[in-house]
Amino acid sequence: MKLLVTGGAGFIGSNFIRYWLANHPDDFIVNLDKLTYAGNLENLKDIEKNPNYKFVQGDICDFELVNGLVSDKLDIIVHFAAESHVDRSVMSSRDFIRTNVEGTMTLLDAAKNNGGVRFHHVSTDEVFGDLSLDGAAFTEKSHYNPRNPYSASKAASDHLVRAYYHTHGLPITISNCSNNYGPYHFPEKMIPLFITNLMENKKVPVYGDGKNVRDWIFVTDHCRGIDFIIQKGKIGQTYCLGGNSEITNIDLTKKILSLMGKGEDMIEYVKDRPGHDLRYAMDYAKAKQELGWEPLLSLHEGLMQTIEWYNDNQAWWQRVKSGEYQEYYEKQYGE
Ligand code: NAD
Ligand code: DAU
Repeated sequence: MKLLVTGGAGFIGSNFIRYWLANHPDDFIVNLDKLTYAGNLENLKDIEKNPNYKFVQGDICDFELVNGLVSDKLDIIVHFAAESHVDRSVMSSRDFIRTNVEGTMTLLDAAKNNGGVRFHHVSTDEVFGDLSLDGAAFTEKSHYNPRNPYSASKAASDHLVRAYYHTHGLPITISNCSNNYGPYHFPEKMIPLFITNLMENKKVPVYGDGKNVRDWIFVTDHCRGIDFIIQKGKIGQTYCLGGNSEITNIDLTKKILSLMGKGEDMIEYVKDRPGHDLRYAMDYAKAKQELGWEPLLSLHEGLMQTIEWYNDNQAWWQRVKSGEYQEYYEKQYGE
């Protein structure tokens, strides 16, 4: 197969490319990424010379570019590219609407114009809004109720993907997944921020009272789920993926502190995020029944692997935190 992966220089996209080439060594991947602040080609250093991999720097909103890539004997588009950080969407929504909504539409148009190319859309549990502490977990039948600009933009993109299936017969699938963590996670997000802060002997900022609940999934389990959907998923269908690992932020923080041999004096309670969703939880029974997928790694095992990875790759995250990583493209690909 030939795949167009969008956003492959980001956290999940780069893990997906590494996962896919290891498990499908005869396939060819084109990685289209704009290299925003979240895109880092150092995430793919070990892949860049693979003859079955090609990087293209560009914007998913650029129809001419996207159409050219899609028209070149493509089997599937796997769409990760997005503005992904909730806190940034609170400060300004514009880039979120442009990339997540207009960018998705541009890709869908290119898929439609080239005979109906298969399209897998990578989405989030946040589109369903938030749950009470005792509410039943989200399923594919849950109502959409996004409550921050990021999740609203992702909800709009999900609706567009489904609309192209119903209106134009485009062969689509969608996955809505819970909070990912693991290697190459940008240290503005909770787990990598906390791990790297502690490695720098800095405190960890817990929002509000720390009682918010997230369901954490190790990134490779998410990538395997997308693989199962691509291979066995039914066209037009949505699949919820989750980690079976619900935990409050404060308990997760204490777990990280304990695994890293640090005391609770390193916790700093800070002002809460506006519109902070209380709880997300995913019921992945459909993926289990129809695809035979379920997450393999426990939160404990995944956290130990993640802490070890950040310990072994200090140069990677130090270059991200200092901003030096943005020079890598120029050195590798510049004139
Ligand atoms: P990320 O922010 O780490 O990476 C996003 C990538 O998209 C970056 O490489 C960036 O350069 C690229 N990009 C942004 N705008 C672009 C544009 N206009 N054109 C081309 N490339 C562009 O994000 P992530 O955490 O890896 O998330 C990937 C996808 O998975 C997103 O669609 C996100 O909504 C979804 N998702 C994320 C999580 C999570 O926990 N991180 C959970 C569920 C779903
Ligand atoms: O649920 C899936 C979503 O998970 C994805 O769609 C998003 O792209 C991804 O960024 C993530 O969103 P969250 O807002 O849940 O992740 P974040 O790591 O930003 O925050 C996790 C929890 O930790 C959340 O309740 C807010 C809290 N938090 C976060 C940060 C950055 C803190 O307490 N302190 C922090 O410094």
